[in-house]
Amino acid sequence: MENLTKNEDKNLNLVEADKKKEEFINYLEEKRKLGYYNSALMSILHKAQELYGYISPEVINEISLRLGMPTAKIWGIVTFYHYFTLKPRGKYVISVCLGTACYVKGSKRILNKLKELLKIELNQTTPDGLFTIEAKYCLGCCGLAPVMMINNKVYEKLTTKKLIEIIETLKSSYYKTTKA
Ligand code: FES
Repeated sequence: MENLTKNEDKNLNLVEADKKKEEFINYLEEKRKLGYYNSALMSILHKAQELYGYISPEVINEISLRLGMPTAKIWGIVTFYHYFTLKPRGKYVISVCLGTACYVKGSKRILNKLKELLKIELNQTTPDGLFTIEAKYCLGCCGLAPVMMINNKVYEKLTTKKLIEIIETLKSSYYKTTKA
């Protein structure tokens, strides 16, 4: 029964990977038809990162092949902008704000607690691929300090107690969904 669940998980992941690939190729083809490759490159890379969570060598090769663009040029853009990442990130990317207002209100303590809870350091991803921790330097909501973002959602006025609850909720809802 357990094996069956594992196989089902694997099949589900493969279907999801195929869907993402199809969406990305369609997006690339749309841009190719429009013809403005240079100006479209940034949005193509954003799309890839949004879909896969990072920019892989396979994605770079696919862009290069379809748009007839040198891979060196694409690598240049990806490595120049800090927004892009070449390493797979977790399903939940946690960005802890270490800007002045948050720092003063104890964001370093929040970060340390997070590292302790997830047993990883800054810019690392948990072995199950669920969480990545990053630092940011002002998320634009200083009045709610200390804050962090998980993907696109802001968590405000954090305490270590709140943090523990948030992480536990995410973990349990994720594992409940994958086991259902
Ligand atoms: S310093 Fe943290 S939101 Fe501005």
